[in-house]
Amino acid sequence: MKIRIVDLLKSDIYGIDVYVRGWVRTHRQSKNISFIALNDGSTVHNLQIVIEHVKFEKNMLKTITTGSAIGIKGKFIRSAGGKQQVEVIAGDIEVYGIADPQEYPLQKKEHSLEYLREIAHLRLRTNTFGAIFRMRHNMAFAIHRYFNERGFFYFNTPIITISDSEGAGELFEVKTELKDDFFGSPANLTVSGQLEGELGALALAAIYTFSPTFRAENSNTFRHLSEFWMIEPEVAFNDINDNMDLAEDFLKYLIRYALENCESDLAFLNDNVDNGLMDKLHFVANNEFMRLPYSKAIEILQESGRQFDYPVKPGIDLCAEHERHLVEEYFRRPVIVTDYPKEIKAFYMKQNEDGKTVRAMDVLFPKIGEIIGGSEREADYTKLLQRMKELNMNTEKLWWYLESRKFGTVPHSGFGLGFERLMLFITGMTNIRDVIPFPRTPRNANF
Ligand code: 4AD
Ligand code: MG
Repeated sequence: MKIRIVDLLKSDIYGIDVYVRGWVRTHRQSKNISFIALNDGSTVHNLQIVIEHVKFEKNMLKTITTGSAIGIKGKFIRSAGGKQQVEVIAGDIEVYGIADPQEYPLQKKEHSLEYLREIAHLRLRTNTFGAIFRMRHNMAFAIHRYFNERGFFYFNTPIITISDSEGAGELFEVKTELKDDFFGSPANLTVSGQLEGELGALALAAIYTFSPTFRAENSNTFRHLSEFWMIEPEVAFNDINDNMDLAEDFLKYLIRYALENCESDLAFLNDNVDNGLMDKLHFVANNEFMRLPYSKAIEILQESGRQFDYPVKPGIDLCAEHERHLVEEYFRRPVIVTDYPKEIKAFYMKQNEDGKTVRAMDVLFPKIGEIIGGSEREADYTKLLQRMKELNMNTEKLWWYLESRKFGTVPHSGFGLGFERLMLFITGMTNIRDVIPFPRTPRNANF
């Protein structure tokens, strides 16, 4: 019976012949017998394989070293040894691929995360990265499940666009070898699917995107990637308060999903990466987020008496250090900051009556700072057009976006969750390069 190790370890089919395949983590030899720890990627736990030397050819056994790939047919039994409860007594061994111990870089000792980043093609085979990428899959699944259960439609927005929805000038240009202007005008990789997502919401009522996005930000930080995945729900008839409720409920759902469905990977990360991980996840899943306007946040930061690297005064954009002070020192819980000055936020946000602030909301998390950015959108054609002109934007290029405010416009809101920032929080890792299989950052697209 062909079976994955995760399923085998949960089963009680003792005495049955099983067939498992995977990669050797360790091979321990004594005089007449060998013990192999086999991992097939389905779980952080290894399966112990017992090999009685007399049954097999010596030269073949020598090739079963750390990193090699093998298939085992054998009997699944309760283990006599103390450390593990079950094992497989090998009856038949097939060696698929050897891994020369002189060359294979993942030996038993612990490797630093920096070193593992240089061998991204092999780090996937370590316990830590196995746990992270299984969890990444589970979170992606939970995201689709959350929205599907609530009547949202998965909506696909283009990767190649001619607009800059965030207006931050961080575009990667798209060119071909044939022509500079293949599309008739300069094109770029999308920084966000929001503008097209809004069109989806103004037709299907509630949509979400889940796509790669690209930003040529020249910032080498623990929380920035040049290519990252974003989840962007957009909902017709939602105001800023509905939007905050959705963001909070969504994040709590995802954390609960991880706690309920990724037990062994989380336990591993809690033991080996961040001892406070489980407590942090439980706390955030079960406590209300703090909500406050930007002006109040600035007051708190100014009154803190702390020397920030970037000094605090009204009008500044909040940096990671400010965000983390609010979350980790002051409120000690996730925080949603609203009503930012319009100058530091994107053109599409709905303006408040004061003429100075916009209905923006950033969700700030411990260790990470901003995990979500969103807003209620300006639904009024005249106000939107005026704001675009104030910012000297090319209104012709976004004619289709403006038209959505001419025909059947409604209040609507949405936000973007950075998938890798969520993964940082869920796994307890501290560098965003370690929660995406093949990270892209300035001067680094090796794999
Ligand atoms: O705050 P941002 O720029 O918002 C938008 O793009 C809106 N269009 C979203 C919307 O309202 N639909 O980005 C949203 C989130 C951030 O809060 C952060 O989590 C993540 O995307 N993010 C990044 N993650 C990794 N690397 C980067 N360079 C990121 N830039 C933003
Ligand atoms: Mg933002």
